[in-house]
Amino acid sequence: MKAFRVRELKSTDAEALLAFEIHNREWFESHIDARDPSFYSLQGVTDHIECFLSDFAIGAWHPFVIEDSSGKIVGRANLKSINSPKGSAEVGYRIDQRACGQGLATLALRHLIQEAQMRWGLTQLVAYVYTENVGSRKVVGRCGFLFEQPSCDEKTGGECRFVLSI
Ligand SMILES: CC(C)(COP(=O)(O)OP(=O)(O)OC[C@H]1O[C@@H](n2cnc3c(N)ncnc32)[C@H](O)[C@@H]1OP(=O)(O)O)[C@@H](O)C(=O)NCCC(=O)NCCS
Repeated sequence: MKAFRVRELKSTDAEALLAFEIHNREWFESHIDARDPSFYSLQGVTDHIECFLSDFAIGAWHPFVIEDSSGKIVGRANLKSINSPKGSAEVGYRIDQRACGQGLATLALRHLIQEAQMRWGLTQLVAYVYTENVGSRKVVGRCGFLFEQPSCDEKTGGECRFVLSI
């Protein structure tokens, strides 16, 4: 694998993040829920970053980006809805279509697992993946997440729940 690194999202990332999101908008919307159209502007992304960073400050969210060797953003990964008393959080990630198939989502998810354990002391991570998202199902499986059967009265909206005990 070429040199990539996972680092925390910064307030100065707005322009680079906007470029990444605009470039991959169709690609992401073919796999995951679409963002509000107002997100796709410098102001929209600046507000989005501010929101993530204030959630980070209160220990509810841990946002990361993946950079290539030239410093370009090629992916994102987040620990979401961190619930310290319960010891749990959700994971999310998205990779630039041109950078897929090189193990970047796996790298990012392994990073999230390590941060969840070492920094936040969490014991459980959850991933929601659409059934048809074969690539993402492979990523969670490779990182040890197990498919959790929904209970009879649970509405999943086409998403499967995968859980990792750490
Ligand atoms: C899903 C996604 C994150 C995978 O990123 P990635 O960096 O390509 O993932 P990795 O390279 O770590 O692993 C993907 C694996 O799935 C495989 N794969 C991908 N698409 C596949 C498909 N349609 N059928 C079979 N295998 C597939 C890849 O070959 C790879 O396996 P390999 O390493 O054994 O060759 C990326 O496609 C993406 O960002 N999609 C849009 C957003 C999204 O779906 N996010 C996840 C929401 S749960």
